[in-house]
Amino acid sequence: MRLSRYFLPVLKENPADAQIVSHRYMLRAGMIKQQAAGIYSWLPMGFRVLKRIEEIVHQEQIRAGHIPMLMPTLQPADLWRESGRYDDYGEEMLRITDRHKRDMLYGPTNEEMITDIFRAHVGSYKDLPLTLYHVQWKFRDEIRPRFGVMRGREFYMKDGYNFDLTKEDALHAYNRHLVSYLRTYERMGLQAIPMRADSGPIGGDDTHEFLVLAATGESEVFYDSAITDLKFGDREIDYDDHAACRGVLEEFTSRYARTDETHDEAVFSQIPEERRRVARGIEVGQIFYFGTKYSEPMGAMVVNDKGERVPVHMGSHGIGVSRLVGAIIEASHDEKGIIWPEGVTPFHCGIVNLKQGDAATDAACAEIYGALTAKGLEPLYDDRDERAGAKFATMDLIGLPWRITVGPRGLAAGKVEVTSRRTGESEEMSVLAAVDRIAALYKGV
Ligand SMILES: Nc1ncnc2c1ncn2[C@@H]1O[C@H](COP(=O)(O)OP(=O)(O)O)[C@@H](O)[C@H]1O
Ligand SMILES: [Mg+2]
Repeated sequence: MRLSRYFLPVLKENPADAQIVSHRYMLRAGMIKQQAAGIYSWLPMGFRVLKRIEEIVHQEQIRAGHIPMLMPTLQPADLWRESGRYDDYGEEMLRITDRHKRDMLYGPTNEEMITDIFRAHVGSYKDLPLTLYHVQWKFRDEIRPRFGVMRGREFYMKDGYNFDLTKEDALHAYNRHLVSYLRTYERMGLQAIPMRADSGPIGGDDTHEFLVLAATGESEVFYDSAITDLKFGDREIDYDDHAACRGVLEEFTSRYARTDETHDEAVFSQIPEERRRVARGIEVGQIFYFGTKYSEPMGAMVVNDKGERVPVHMGSHGIGVSRLVGAIIEASHDEKGIIWPEGVTPFHCGIVNLKQGDAATDAACAEIYGALTAKGLEPLYDDRDERAGAKFATMDLIGLPWRITVGPRGLAAGKVEVTSRRTGESEEMSVLAAVDRIAALYKGV
């Protein structure tokens, strides 16, 4: 993409209403525009990041054997009357009446609808296990939407639902989700710690939230600092292997890590004092096992191998896709702007032309652009007729992890400059070497 032809409405001033850094930078970098309280348009730069995060979520869900689909945003109220949640859910649910005076709602989550789909089409234990998921807009009429996309009213979420014959199988689905979530967040350059949590309106006994540590997080968290040493890394896992998935859960939940809702001071105080941490975190996902809470009232039954009709065991699993955009910025920025991890960056590399209109410089930039594109990478080429300082400031603000700077003086010596946004370190090399360097950096990302 050439910046001169792109739509990147960068703001020079800090927006007054943005209280936290991710909200500020998302507005300043032209990623979002607020349309109503807690409701945003995703401008091209923000949309690219949102889609990259969504793509990682899909890849890791599919790797775990989960099946993508798509359910609508609007749902009939009757489904929610069957589960008993229509009256329970309260004012967070946006209720709508259509022209035929039918009660509808904008879905805050999809347990009822997926259970309805299941009961219409599945009747035998032979069709289990089954996990279906979608990535779809949700609406919750939050009393205090704030911090930009972190606590929106309309937000983008991956929600998945497992159907299993037995509690044991459903707990395997729970463990499988935990493993796939660890992989998902690490690919985004994040450490998200699974913490024992409270189940809230979803219901159920077993639940973990995934929290990214950040001073601006809305949740208070208590943990043993030893937990931050754990990394899933690039280990291979067989998602059908119950013991292997349980082993990962045990490893990642072996240390004390809880949100304020489940915090237990007596247990916490047994951890050596130098390892006790009280901090704040951003909830970027949650997994639940809730057994037959929906299958029983809604009649989602299968026939087991003895010919008996039994309700299926279920769980649900969510990732806050739009919130993650803000969470990643909270975890990765400096005073100049965003620093995107390679896994989610909107463009792989920036190209800065220091002397637009100089024939040799323009030609070198075009060559780099073409060579990166040919390698399957997406560069953002700042080809505007602007001062170098302004170009660098824009690049630093939008946070592409790598930049190639091209100017007549360097070119005279056959060199361009490759700069890391994270460390600020630069290295001079030939055009070809610069292209190879960038391509190598993205191998395996
Ligand atoms: N108002 C919101 N704005 C943005 N993301 C949200 C919002 N509410 C929930 N999410 C994201 O969706 C994920 C799954 O939702 P869920 O656990 O049902 O939410 P909650 O714990 O707030 O009830 C959360 O972990 C969070 O990352
Ligand atoms: Mg939650």
